[in-house]
Amino acid sequence: MKISIEPAPPRTEAIPWDNLPFGRIFSRHMAVAEYSGGTWHSLRVQPLQPLALHPGTSALHYGQALFEGFKAYQRPDGRAFVFRLKDHWQRLNSSARRLVMPEVPYELFTGLLRALLAMERDLLPPQLVQGLYVRPVYFATDPWLGVRTSESYLLLIYLAPVGAYYSGSIAAYVEKEMVRAAPGGTGSIKMAGNYAAALLSGQKAQGVGCQVSLWLDAHYHEWIEEFSTMNIFFVTKGPRLLTPSLQRGTILPGITRATILALAPRLGLPAEEREISIHEVTEGIANGTIREIFGTGTAATITSISQLYYEGKWWHLPPESPIASQLLTEYRKALKGEREIPEEWIWWIET
Ligand code: COI
Repeated sequence: MKISIEPAPPRTEAIPWDNLPFGRIFSRHMAVAEYSGGTWHSLRVQPLQPLALHPGTSALHYGQALFEGFKAYQRPDGRAFVFRLKDHWQRLNSSARRLVMPEVPYELFTGLLRALLAMERDLLPPQLVQGLYVRPVYFATDPWLGVRTSESYLLLIYLAPVGAYYSGSIAAYVEKEMVRAAPGGTGSIKMAGNYAAALLSGQKAQGVGCQVSLWLDAHYHEWIEEFSTMNIFFVTKGPRLLTPSLQRGTILPGITRATILALAPRLGLPAEEREISIHEVTEGIANGTIREIFGTGTAATITSISQLYYEGKWWHLPPESPIASQLLTEYRKALKGEREIPEEWIWWIET
């Protein structure tokens, strides 16, 4: 596998490490792979720059486009790694299969990523609470207005040193009218359109002072699914963790969600995945059996929910989130290497 390298000019602005925004500072380079004629080719790392696309580019019209998001970290001893890379690569390919796009070979994906990270080693944040966000984006490029599977594709990977996605705890708007996903649809993959479809609800949420929407199932508008930007967890009396099951195929199988489910038992927290109705939630908040709600995601890590807005009424959670804080500490200890974790969760950047 040959990857050509074209170095970018040096960065002219300093990176505000003490006050990193989310997703506004980008790497100087991007990795690129093209697919056409049934093969991957033109693998390269080049300066990050705007793309020249034909106006008929099918991804722009029909949405054959997907992405991933994961993070690279640097441990206090200077060793750098990507967290759960293989899981993200597998999810990328499960999204690709659903959108009839060619799967991305592991060697190609990791080869490009390693070459890119080698050119951007100085972008790894000095503190573990920050991360270097890796954003692969993969889309159909045939310039043709027929609705059909494209025969050409572009895969790009670029980086963004990031701080918190949300600052502090946030309020969530329970969306009762619009839906994000239906069984058999694309809710369980990371396709671009899922996020566009959430924007109008996001506007409604902002209108009442919420930062995120919480989606219910498409049929009954009753069963909790996930937030627009992250999965959801409840802390019930016990304490116990509760999260919607993935069974209906309408929820993104979050890698952070899976990590929390794996870490919880170590803190003596039993975790359950099952159907949860919005009525169980409002009742649980009212009678104190639901103590905390938090979201999980690569970008959001663990974000506590302060209140829910449902059918014109606010449902306030207790001001403290001790279990979410404990889980975040445990998560960071796992990243730092202070906890035993499965070997395959760590992909060392320098081998
Ligand atoms: C992520 O958490 O990595 C995502 O892709 C979610 C997005 C809202 C930033």
